[in-house]
Amino acid sequence: MQCLRLKHILQACKSSARIHKQRAKSGQASDMGMKSYWDAFYRSRRPRDLGDSNCFEWFFPYSETKDVFQSAFANVAENLPGNDFNLIRIAELGCGTSELSMELIQDHQSSCCITCVDFSTAALEHNQKNVKSNARFHGSVAGHLAYVAADVCHLPFSENSFDLVFEKGTMDALLKSENTRPKSDQFLLEAIRVLRPGGMFLQFSDEAPELRLDLLERMKSHVWQREPKHISVSFKNISHNDALEYFVYTVQYGKM
Ligand SMILES: C[S@@+](CC[C@H](N)C(=O)[O-])C[C@H]1O[C@@H](n2cnc3c(N)ncnc32)[C@H](O)[C@@H]1O
Repeated sequence: MQCLRLKHILQACKSSARIHKQRAKSGQASDMGMKSYWDAFYRSRRPRDLGDSNCFEWFFPYSETKDVFQSAFANVAENLPGNDFNLIRIAELGCGTSELSMELIQDHQSSCCITCVDFSTAALEHNQKNVKSNARFHGSVAGHLAYVAADVCHLPFSENSFDLVFEKGTMDALLKSENTRPKSDQFLLEAIRVLRPGGMFLQFSDEAPELRLDLLERMKSHVWQREPKHISVSFKNISHNDALEYFVYTVQYGKM
């Protein structure tokens, strides 16, 4: 019996070492979790020609996430707690210079307000300029967007602040940085802490389910210890071609 248990422990250690190796291998840089890395990255980008908003879009643009957001909106709107304007409160964690949030507001006819968080001041400055100068976005979009400079592992929001929280590539960046485990664990716990019960958290990622689901399961058990709330985790392959695989991970928080 003892021997069997030891064998299981050894197997678990081996598989966690393998996962760690796989993540390290796929990582492009160990400083992808650092503000200085991202500030330099966004500052190094120059408009190619007049009118080019020069945004950098990780993985894919809004158009490829449309269906996912369509059903997420329907889901969270179902039991939207009345707020002053009946708007869906959304947070994007690690927005970079992506235009996804702007397009989301446009597409949903301003039925939501989005708080975009990033610790890169270079990215946030770029976005503020983009919203002001890009004819597509000022007017209805600008009034529904807020930018907050903050660390996604220590969010400056209270519990219950959002109906929907999402991220694209942010946890992937944290997983390629040093102290991977504590940072990604903290990030997941923060994303759930700021959600209201009945809310939803979406992760767009290129990380395969055999790696990501373990982390989401760990988060589930941490949250359960803090507060016994039902959490369900699911995922979907949203790849548009065979060469690259992308997934959306959905965490439904506190809904039976
Ligand atoms: C891979 S990029 C994705 C950017 C954007 N979501 C997109 O789809 O193009 C990761 C982003 O996360 C931000 N980031 C990484 N670690 C962070 C942290 N601890 N706090 C806040 N932002 C962070 C980076 O500045 C960067 O903009």
